[in-house]
Amino acid sequence: MALAVSACAKSNTSTSSSETSNAEGSSAPMAATSAAVTTAAASAGETAYTANCASCHQASGKGLTGSFPPLAGNPVVTGDPKKVIHIVKYGLSGKIMVGPDAFNGIMPPWATQLSDDAVAGVVTFIRTSWGNKASAVIAAEVGAVKK
Ligand code: HEC
Repeated sequence: MALAVSACAKSNTSTSSSETSNAEGSSAPMAATSAAVTTAAASAGETAYTANCASCHQASGKGLTGSFPPLAGNPVVTGDPKKVIHIVKYGLSGKIMVGPDAFNGIMPPWATQLSDDAVAGVVTFIRTSWGNKASAVIAAEVGAVKK
């Protein structure tokens, strides 16, 4: 469980050029070691973020003041992974505060559209991007979080 964090945080080397296109929904069977799965999930996570989340939370992770909360530097995002997974799977509404800024919008649920693998990847991505440094999550943890 502790293994992937440093690997992810530092991997600005090569790898991530391929795997962009629309292979997203086609559940490629990747069942290697958990380290390999986690690394693959993180790069798939960036793709999934760009496709599903960036329209609101922005590619920068900074959100839009008054409408969409920032994920960069947000202690909820880097806090309890179960809570982050729950928000992404089942959505969120009602007033929240992020630092000094209030939001009262509706975050759509993703559990029906994204597989556990895809949610794991996207949650890992937001927890390890834009200066965020929190643990990666794996599909089994996503599957364990129920409504
Ligand atoms: C349609 C716009 C929209 C999209 C797309 C969207 N979000 Fe959100 N998200 C929101 C809004 C609005 C909130 C705040 C909800 C509230 O005010 O209660 C939010 C809240 C969150 C939070 C909680 C932040 C906090 O401080 O509690 C997380 C984490 C999050 N979104 C992650 C994601 C991820 C990951 C994706 C892509 C899978 C995504 N969002 C896609 C609009 C969106």
